[in-house]
Amino acid sequence: MSPPPLRGLVLAATVALPLAGCAKKAPDPIEQIVVRKPGDPPVVVPLASTDPVAAGKRAFAASCSACHAASADAAKGVGPALYGVIGRKAASVPGFAYSAAMKGSGLTWSGPEIEALIANPQGIVPGTSMNAGAVSDANARHAIVQYLKTLGPKG
Ligand code: HEC
Repeated sequence: MSPPPLRGLVLAATVALPLAGCAKKAPDPIEQIVVRKPGDPPVVVPLASTDPVAAGKRAFAASCSACHAASADAAKGVGPALYGVIGRKAASVPGFAYSAAMKGSGLTWSGPEIEALIANPQGIVPGTSMNAGAVSDANARHAIVQYLKTLGPKG
């Protein structure tokens, strides 16, 4: 006996969208079942937010916040606070014990420099005491920088 034919029903789309930039955290799956008749226009399934600032905030929480504070008045952590870091000269948070390597780096933190730092800290500042925090995913690095840009007086 054959199963009854499914007439007029199209069952479409269970979508699980891995959101770029949050590799460490399991992505929130979006599930939607769309029932439509043949000939109906295609259904647009709403996607998860691809807002890079939101993705960067999550990636920062996962990869950076253990050592870095995001607020101006935070107590010092293992690393210097990153509030206002975009456009800031390297090694310029008063009272933070930077490595000689960071003090001598001559860098000013623009987006691309921060992306390079978190791709491979020793690559851009050989001898830095930032011994962890490398982020392997380029989208996540970019998203983190978009988030860092919101931290500061202009953010
Ligand atoms: C294990 C702790 C640790 C983690 C995790 C970490 N950092 Fe760092 N970071 C440091 C330390 C320590 C320094 C100071 C390095 C030095 O003086 O050589 C630093 C320095 C920096 C600087 C230079 C700041 C300045 O004032 O010159 C930036 C930018 C930075 N980190 C960004 C990040 C980002 C973004 C992440 C996450 C992707 C991250 N760090 C993860 C410890 C960490």
